[in-house]
Amino acid sequence: MIFVSVPFTLYPVPSKIVVMPEFIFDKWSDIYARRAVALRSSQIRDLFSVTSRPEIISFAGGQPYTKPVEATDIVSSTKEALDNDKETPLRYGGGEGQHGLRLHIIDFLKAENIKVHEDDVLVTVGAQQALDLVSKIFIDAGDIVLTESPSYVGALNAFLSFGAQIETVDLDNNGLKITALKEKLKKLKKKPKFLYTVPNYHNPAGVTLSNKRRHELIKLAKAEKLLIVEDNAYSMLGFENNVYPALKSLDENVIYLGTFSKIFFVPGARLGWVIAPKAILEKLSIAKQAADLCTGALSQSITEEYLHLRPWPKRAKQMSKIYEKKRDVMLKTLEKYFPKDARWARPKGGFYVWVKLPYFVDTTQMLAEAINEKVAYVPGNNFYPNEEGKNYMRLSYCLPELKEIDEGIKRLAKVVKSRIELYRSFKKYR
Ligand SMILES: Cc1ncc(COP(=O)(O)O)c(C=O)c1O
Repeated sequence: MIFVSVPFTLYPVPSKIVVMPEFIFDKWSDIYARRAVALRSSQIRDLFSVTSRPEIISFAGGQPYTKPVEATDIVSSTKEALDNDKETPLRYGGGEGQHGLRLHIIDFLKAENIKVHEDDVLVTVGAQQALDLVSKIFIDAGDIVLTESPSYVGALNAFLSFGAQIETVDLDNNGLKITALKEKLKKLKKKPKFLYTVPNYHNPAGVTLSNKRRHELIKLAKAEKLLIVEDNAYSMLGFENNVYPALKSLDENVIYLGTFSKIFFVPGARLGWVIAPKAILEKLSIAKQAADLCTGALSQSITEEYLHLRPWPKRAKQMSKIYEKKRDVMLKTLEKYFPKDARWARPKGGFYVWVKLPYFVDTTQMLAEAINEKVAYVPGNNFYPNEEGKNYMRLSYCLPELKEIDEGIKRLAKVVKSRIELYRSFKKYR
């Protein structure tokens, strides 16, 4: 029997699953800040204990495939870091990050055609902390933030936790629709604080912003004095030879977020970075001091040594090849097993396939059935600030082995087909 703690919306409950509604009596509820009331939990995190059970094939998290990272490499990187200088990794470090690690970041950014000095780089606790810090310095309750529709759930939760009013702009297979953005900007009564975008290998939609639209976006942003926050978490994880210029390489005013989580190293290191115009970086750096004093020095030293041992260009190539194979298997098996009325786009890189089901399939309700069949995904509604996306689901191919992808999609197809048949037979006999 599986116990899952999920919101009420998961009813009706299938027989083998026990759903425990999240009812916690909270005697402090009248003293919380309004900010705390706005906090929204990520269903991906809520489901973590279920999806990480060995019998479940999980397409839920954005967990990178860490098998190719050898334990012996971590051990020798740690030894190297401590042999070089035992004291620095064990102490508090400077708030902006360690010299050696920032040099790796600069080297990577050069490949993205972004030329920065070490002082322009702020090392953060993952790109997620950068999202929190950006929110902290820009968002007052009621401020407008523009995001793609759908958008990365961790970003939405960060913006919402500071009381942002999120206004969304549609995507298509070429990424953010610039015409829709223009219309949105015309309609808004108040100027948005910034636009948050994931141009490369989008989470969750899997799409990539075309070259043409990148230039159009920068032109529009300049004309409208709109600040862009570019989240490039999946950079270098492309499966084709196309080169997409980073928005930051087209306009120095862009705030750029990067991470070591997805390809360069592992999310266990919890390291990311932000590049921003000097004045903004100064504010972010002060906000960061209040949050954590500094990013963990030990983790930075180990990552720096690991990247000497396994330079990022080779690692990025190796990981892209692995993920491309996984994507291919997922697309092939979706084609083979899924009902004809399901739709998805072919990701050019990254981790995700975004699947659209017929309008009457509620993927949040369906999740309990999927877990009974020992397969998991993230319901689409999580990637919207409102009630949209109920008939979508995000499938991550990054973590499962090739065989598991095939088996998991087979199991999921059974669940989806039974939902569709149930609805159709119900309509017929009504
Ligand atoms: C688009 C995007 N941005 C940021 C993050 C957070 O990454 P990090 O591990 O660096 O905090 C993720 C993680 O899934 C992501 O998908």
